[in-house]
Amino acid sequence: MRDRGRILIGLLIFLILMTFPVWYNALNGVSVMQEPELATKNVPGKDKCVNTAEYMRQNHMNLLNQWRDTVVRQDVRVYTTVDGRKFNMSLTNTCLDCHPNRENFCNRCHNYLAVNPYCWDCHVDPQDPKVLAAKEPR
Ligand code: HEC
Ligand code: HEC
Ligand code: HEC
Repeated sequence: MRDRGRILIGLLIFLILMTFPVWYNALNGVSVMQEPELATKNVPGKDKCVNTAEYMRQNHMNLLNQWRDTVVRQDVRVYTTVDGRKFNMSLTNTCLDCHPNRENFCNRCHNYLAVNPYCWDCHVDPQDPKVLAAKEPR
């Protein structure tokens, strides 16, 4: 079987390409995505998201755009959930109120996926080391 060598090399290249994301991430130190930390899961009143976890996982970026447009264009700030709870449509004051550690929540997914939302150029993350440092007395 003269082709055997070539088949093996082909297979090897195929395997390297298929597993590229795994070892690429391993080399960059993010081999396995850590579970996003649900800091308020057991805190009464903060134990449920503004929609189901399933919905949020897939649609939080769209929901955030919708919140922004509603606030900025219509000056309406109250969001009512499907089950009748009311929230202030605010990235900093609402999302980060229940998900206070952006690094251990938002970024566990985003770093793994190499997404880097630019929202924090303007919006405040109160736990951001830079924000905390700016507050220190000099
Ligand atoms: C009142 C508290 C609360 C608010 C406000 C809140 N969340 Fe959540 N969020 C949770 C909890 C608790 C969970 C875990 C799922 C559940 O049981 O609802 C969750 C789940 C999620 C998930 C899925 C996480 C996973 O592990 O799959 C995403 C994404 C998310 N939230 C993003 C947001 C964003 C973005 C906002 C603002 C638009 C927001 N959340 C506002 C409490 C909150
Ligand atoms: C369960 C994983 C997960 C968590 C937790 C999570 N995100 Fe995301 N986020 C994603 C995914 C997946 C995308 C979509 C990436 C894509 O479309 O390429 C995304 C995209 C986004 C985008 C759009 C960025 C873009 O460039 O299109 C924004 C804004 C965003 N997330 C905000 C947040 C905020 C704020 C939090 C924390 C409160 C958060 N996300 C938590 C998984 C997550
Ligand atoms: C260039 C600056 C800038 C950037 C970048 C930016 N925003 Fe905003 N955003 C604003 C301003 C200004 C308002 C209006 C503030 C108000 O009226 O409370 C706003 C309002 C919002 C609101 C509603 C009010 C609030 O307190 O949160 C949401 C939600 C929002 N933006 C989401 C996002 C998301 C998600 C991203 C990233 C994908 C983003 N913004 C990026 C400037 C910015």
